[in-house]
Amino acid sequence: MGFFFFFSFFIVPLTLTLTVISTVNSCPPSDRAALLAFKAALTEPYLGIFNTWTGKDCCSSKWYGVNCDPTTNRVADINLRGESEDPIFEKSGRTGYMTGSISPEICKLDRLTNLVIADWKGISGEIPKCLTSLSSLRILDLIGNKLTGEIPADIGNLKRLTVLNIADNDISGDIPASIVGMSSLMHLDLRNNQISGEIPADFGKLGMLSRALLSRNQITGSIPTSISQMYRLADLDLSENRISGPIPEQLGKMPVLSTLNLDCNSVSGQIPAGLLSNTRMGILNLSRNDLEGKIPDVFGSNSYFMALDLSYNNLKGPIPGSLSSAKYIGHLDLSHNHLCGSIPAGSPFNHLEAVSFMKNDCLCGNPLKTC
Ligand SMILES: *[C@@H]1O[C@H](CO)[C@@H](O)[C@H](O)[C@H]1NC(C)=O
Repeated sequence: MGFFFFFSFFIVPLTLTLTVISTVNSCPPSDRAALLAFKAALTEPYLGIFNTWTGKDCCSSKWYGVNCDPTTNRVADINLRGESEDPIFEKSGRTGYMTGSISPEICKLDRLTNLVIADWKGISGEIPKCLTSLSSLRILDLIGNKLTGEIPADIGNLKRLTVLNIADNDISGDIPASIVGMSSLMHLDLRNNQISGEIPADFGKLGMLSRALLSRNQITGSIPTSISQMYRLADLDLSENRISGPIPEQLGKMPVLSTLNLDCNSVSGQIPAGLLSNTRMGILNLSRNDLEGKIPDVFGSNSYFMALDLSYNNLKGPIPGSLSSAKYIGHLDLSHNHLCGSIPAGSPFNHLEAVSFMKNDCLCGNPLKTC
């Protein structure tokens, strides 16, 4: 009698409450359906991460790589990294591999803020164009797959995007003109794809951008002068492309630019003095271009280069004497030019070897043969 009393007045209401709570917590059926359609277009044969995507509540911590907004219970993050220290990887002793494609059904997750499908090596097909409708998206990271096709033309609609990383894929076509509209973009990584065409002339409108990594593509045209207006740009990597024309003089006046890689292009003209006198510049690689003229004699006691590589150009004249007053030059390469004269003495030169100076017209002095 007492037990029945307890049951009807306590347990029954408790189970009802629990049922209500769990319905409130589970993800909307439409989000769950979108996730299952996304899963259905992919094959992950070795780790079984998608085996965790079962049951009604896609917001439960069980669903690997899925997170929901705690207030709206909408799916907010998909975070699937094929190279990770997660126990699921350690147990299998291998990195991730996945084939298939990214289903456009994912665009139905219209509250998505982070979409990371990185380093799965085998995911092919295109970047779904509808991703540009995900107006809450902050991080889009698709590095290290086999994606083809073009960057969606209206990628610029993603006004909140801070990170766009599609490096190490087979993306082709131009950099869309709309990209300059991504007013929150801080990190752009398009390295190692098949991207062609020119860098948009108004690229400098990306005022929040701190890293622009475009190396190992087939980009043509010249370096837009507007880049010099990018007050937060610290790292510009345009190496291994087909860029021609001069280095804009104004690049030497950029306030935080500290890494500039233009190596393996067809950049011509003289080296702007500002690039060498700018004391923030720490890594400057201009190797394998068509640069000519003298190396500006503008180094100073605050010059601090981790790497200064001017090799394989058509530079003439002497090694500037001011270089010997630099605070530090970690790696210097002036080889394969037409330099002539004696190598200055001084502490920055003490640790350098002959390879830094070889294959010039008539350089002499330590560490080469004496004059
Ligand atoms: C500069 O670029 C060249 C050509 O890509 C490369 O071989 C060299 O290692 C780079 N120099 C430094 C210091 O990284």
